Amino acid sequence: MAYHQLLNATVNYLEGERAHGRRHVNVDPAKLSVLFRPLPPMPVNPIAPAECQSMPELRAQALACTRCEHLVASRKQVVFGVGNEAADILFVGEAPGADEDARGEPFVDAAGELLTRMLKAMDLAREEVYITNILKCRPDTPNQRNDHRAPTADEMTACSDWLHRQIDFIQPKVIVALGKVAVGGLLEMENAPITKMRGTWHTYRGIPLMPTFHPAYLLHKETMQNKRAVWEDLLAVMEKTGLPISDKQRGYFLKH
Ligand code: URA
Repeated sequence: MAYHQLLNATVNYLEGERAHGRRHVNVDPAKLSVLFRPLPPMPVNPIAPAECQSMPELRAQALACTRCEHLVASRKQVVFGVGNEAADILFVGEAPGADEDARGEPFVDAAGELLTRMLKAMDLAREEVYITNILKCRPDTPNQRNDHRAPTADEMTACSDWLHRQIDFIQPKVIVALGKVAVGGLLEMENAPITKMRGTWHTYRGIPLMPTFHPAYLLHKETMQNKRAVWEDLLAVMEKTGLPISDKQRGYFLKH
C-alpha cells in the first residue's frame, strides 16, 4: 500500500507542478531508477470481497456486508450506488445520510437535488452517469444531537474494496470526487486540501480524477465564486470525456 500511496503522491505532485506551468523537475537519477523497478504485488486484503464476475454480484455481496458491526446495527440498508454501470463519468461522494439510508439510493437529499441540477446543466441525466459514495453505510451518530458525521479512517478502509471493485467494473473515463472526504478516500490522503486541489486533474489508478466541492458545501456556502468554480470543474470533465459544450454552457458564469 505504501508504494501505491507514494506513486499517487508523486503523480499528484507532478500534476500540480504542470498545472502551475512548470515543465521540468530535477530528479536524482538514482531515485528515478526506483520507479522502473517491477511493481511489488498488491498486499492481500484479508477482507477483500469474494470473487465476483459482475456488478449485480458485487452489489449482492455489498448489500450483505457485515464488516462494520456498529454500522450494520444502525443502518436501514446498504447504499451501493446507482446509474449506468458503463458510464463515462463516475461521481463519488462521502457517505449516505438519513434520506439515502431510507431510500437505498445515494444523493437523494437536498445536496442530491443540487447534484441532479448540476448534471442537468451538463445535459446529463442521473441514469447516464454512475453515482456512489466512499462509504456504503450511513455513519451512525449514537448520543449525538447532530445526525451527521464524517466517516472514520477505519470505516473508509473497511469499505474501500467495494468502491475499488465498482470502479474496476465501470472503468469510467473520468472520476469526479465530490468534497474532501471523497478525494481523501480515493487518493489515500488524510485531510485532502480540497480548495487547493479542485480544478486540477489528479489520477486514480490511471483514471483522470477531478476533485471539486461537495454539493452540500455549495448549499452551505452558495457564493457565485464557489458555484463558478464547480462549474469550471464540470466543464473540464465535459471536455475530457468529449461531451459537446454549447456557448450557453461555456458562458453560464461569464456575465457575473
Ligand atoms: N448524500 C450522499 O449519498 N452522499 C453524500 O456525500 C451526501 C449526501
